[in-house]
Amino acid sequence: MNREEAYTILHKYMKGQNYLDHSYAVEVIMRGLAKRLDPGNEEYWGIIGLLHDLDEEQCDWQNDMSVHGPTSVEILKKEGIDDPVMFEAIKAHNPKNGKKARTTIEYAILAADPMSGFVKAVAQIYPDKKVASVKPKSVLKRFNELRFAAGANRDYMECIEFTGLRLEDLIDVALDEMTGIAEQIGL
Ligand SMILES: [Fe+2]
Repeated sequence: MNREEAYTILHKYMKGQNYLDHSYAVEVIMRGLAKRLDPGNEEYWGIIGLLHDLDEEQCDWQNDMSVHGPTSVEILKKEGIDDPVMFEAIKAHNPKNGKKARTTIEYAILAADPMSGFVKAVAQIYPDKKVASVKPKSVLKRFNELRFAAGANRDYMECIEFTGLRLEDLIDVALDEMTGIAEQIGL
C-alpha cells in the first residue's frame, strides 16, 4: 500500500474533519520519527500514523475501548491489505484492546498519538493559537502539569524512550512536523 492508497481508504471510512486533521498530524509525526529511527521508511511509518484511527467512526469504542484498533485491522483486511507489522502497530496505539507495544514502531505510534493532541492543546493557549508559536520548553512545562490536558496520556508519550529517543526529541519532532502542515490541520 502506498500513501495514495492509504489516503483513499482513510477517506472512505472517516469523514469527521477533526479526526482527519488528527490523522494527518499523527502521520507527519510518525514520518518525523522514522527520519531518526528508521530512515528510508518514512512513507510506511506515515501510513501507520495516517490509518491508526481508521475505525474511529466505524465501531462503538465509546462503550467498549477493546474494539478500537482490531476493527481497523478488520477494515484493512477487507480492503485487501495483508501487513502484520502494520496491523500490530495499529493495535498497539490503544493498549486497552489488549495489545502491548513491543517494537520500535509500536512504541512510536503509542507515543505519537497523544503527543499530537497535546501539542494542539498547548497551541490553543497561545494568543494566536498557532503551533508555530509553541516552544519546546512550554510543551515540556505543560507536560509536567498533570491537570493540563489531563486526557493526554503522559505514560504513553513517555514510551518514546523505549525507542532510544527522549521525550524532548518527540516534542521537537511533533512541533516541527505539525508546523509543516499547520495550515492544512487548522493550527
Ligand atoms: Fe489517534
